[in-house]
Amino acid sequence: MITDVLVLNGPNLGRLGIREPDVYGTATLEDLAETCRATGRQLDLHVEVRQTDDEAELIRWVHEAADARTPVVLNPAAFTHYSYALRDALAMRTAPLVEVHLSNPAARESFRHTSVVAGVADGTVAGFGLLSYQLALQAIADLAARQGPGPGAPDTVAPGTVDQETVQTPQ
Ligand code: DQA
Repeated sequence: MITDVLVLNGPNLGRLGIREPDVYGTATLEDLAETCRATGRQLDLHVEVRQTDDEAELIRWVHEAADARTPVVLNPAAFTHYSYALRDALAMRTAPLVEVHLSNPAARESFRHTSVVAGVADGTVAGFGLLSYQLALQAIADLAARQGPGPGAPDTVAPGTVDQETVQTPQ
């Protein structure tokens, strides 16, 4: 079964390739998108990559994902460190969420040491460049497989759960 995944990117990530290449590398946003789509194909994920500099647009996309129960890989960029509005939107999520960063914010300026997003995510991958996104997609594939199909899908027993009808009780 193919799972849809949104890979959402916040402000200034449209400038990848020319933005502080010593920190963020030389890959462009299009390179990042192609890497994510290729990784998605290997994991049976249909990946759509978006980027915006606009907090309101990013929040609308998070609402859209929640309504459609779509898993999200999110690089909130600078919004990571202060956007309570984004955090509140993410708190309404209905599917897996992995926070990603190209750089390792914990090893940079102190204002980057706080993530207001981390507490509402399943986990965070940071510091590995494009590999951060590939690892995040791997985590999403794993989480989605563990959660099984969402409500409305045909009845199945998710791995790791007990089907009461097949439990044998000792006589
Ligand atoms: C970033 C780290 C943030 O601190 C910064 O504001 C960004 C990019 C990263 O991917 O390393 O814009 O999220």
